[in-house]
Amino acid sequence: MPQISNRGNKAYDSPIRSLIPYADAAESKGTKVYYLNIGQPDIPTPPNAIEAVRQIDMPVLKYAPALGNTSYREKLTDYYRRFDVELSADNIMVTTGASEAIFLAMMSCLDEGDEVIIPEPFYAIYNGFSNIAKVKIVPITCHIENGYQLPETADFERVITKRTKAIFICNPNNPTGCLYSETALKELAMIVKKYELFLFVDEVYREFCYDNQSFFSSLNLIGLEENVVVMDSISKRFSACGARVGSMVTRNRGVMEAAVRFARYRLSPPGLGQILAEATIDTPSSYIDGVREEYDLRRLTLFDRLSKIEGVTCYPPGGAFYNFIKLPIDDAGKFCKWLLTDFEYKGSTVMISPGEGFYATAGLGKQEVRIAYVLNVNDLHRAMDCLEAGLKAYSGREISRSLHTA
Ligand SMILES: Cc1ncc(COP(=O)(O)O)c(C=O)c1O
Repeated sequence: MPQISNRGNKAYDSPIRSLIPYADAAESKGTKVYYLNIGQPDIPTPPNAIEAVRQIDMPVLKYAPALGNTSYREKLTDYYRRFDVELSADNIMVTTGASEAIFLAMMSCLDEGDEVIIPEPFYAIYNGFSNIAKVKIVPITCHIENGYQLPETADFERVITKRTKAIFICNPNNPTGCLYSETALKELAMIVKKYELFLFVDEVYREFCYDNQSFFSSLNLIGLEENVVVMDSISKRFSACGARVGSMVTRNRGVMEAAVRFARYRLSPPGLGQILAEATIDTPSSYIDGVREEYDLRRLTLFDRLSKIEGVTCYPPGGAFYNFIKLPIDDAGKFCKWLLTDFEYKGSTVMISPGEGFYATAGLGKQEVRIAYVLNVNDLHRAMDCLEAGLKAYSGREISRSLHTA
């Protein structure tokens, strides 16, 4: 029998996937599973966008240009203007989700063996793309005590080497929900400029900022026009994960040209998805306002529930729809599995993601889990009932001091 490749064997697997068979088994036993493990929003996609797809009247579904449909890229410039970002369509490439934008940015800016600094915990898939691009992730560990804010300038400078080519952040952050302030980003910009690095910024959660904090796009960092590459997507803001439409945005012409060369291999971003995506830009602002309010309610509900559970360390996240919390347990991987295999509360259980997979530093994240508040408030309460009861029943419970930041 032919053997699969070594790299196929070693390919990084999502930390969440390994638990899916246990969730399936729990469901087939009749247990209701509350899924707080992945960022799949339950919010309806804007009806005007769905309608645009329904109205398609095309005899042939053709390839789109490698860069994406011009009409959509032009319309995206209107969208970015809402965040005071002035772009031309030439600065925007339509991609197959932000996922492809991450890959194209890495391939266009980094060579094999180059180093990219990423504050950890970080969105686990960055590991996978770094592996494919043969790029080395240099993590800087962030801390729950300050809600996983960006590391200090000195922490970045300490790990910069001759091979450092980029810093990669996600704002607002998945998995921590941390929203980076304009001041913090400007400090980071000084390091980026000093060492002439690329700054990759994954902004797919830009719409979801709470407590009246506004979002500052890294595309507005003055003097960094050649350095910044933003990854974006309609998956989260318009609850349109299945459309598979994202974008890579940069004013650096060389990066865009290299990215187009790679993008031509896949010929075209999704055609039907772009029709839907173009229509999302006409979605009334009341849609996003409503979605943000809904997530905010969930965020506060989750924080309220978590802060009442003994031994849990939590903080109110400023953005996105995640919380990365510390539990009084021996091993989050074991605990998350146990919740699915050996536990139920009133016929239900909850699926959450173990923290380890969000770190590049071995051994970190053992007591941490990511919770995605992608269920309505009622379901979130039921899920927290399960978590609370699970923590009481779990044999690997450890006592730790709790921290609740107001
Ligand atoms: C931070 C972050 N970036 C990128 C993605 C991928 O988004 P897309 O569906 O556009 O590929 C996700 C999906 O969860 C994400 O959380």
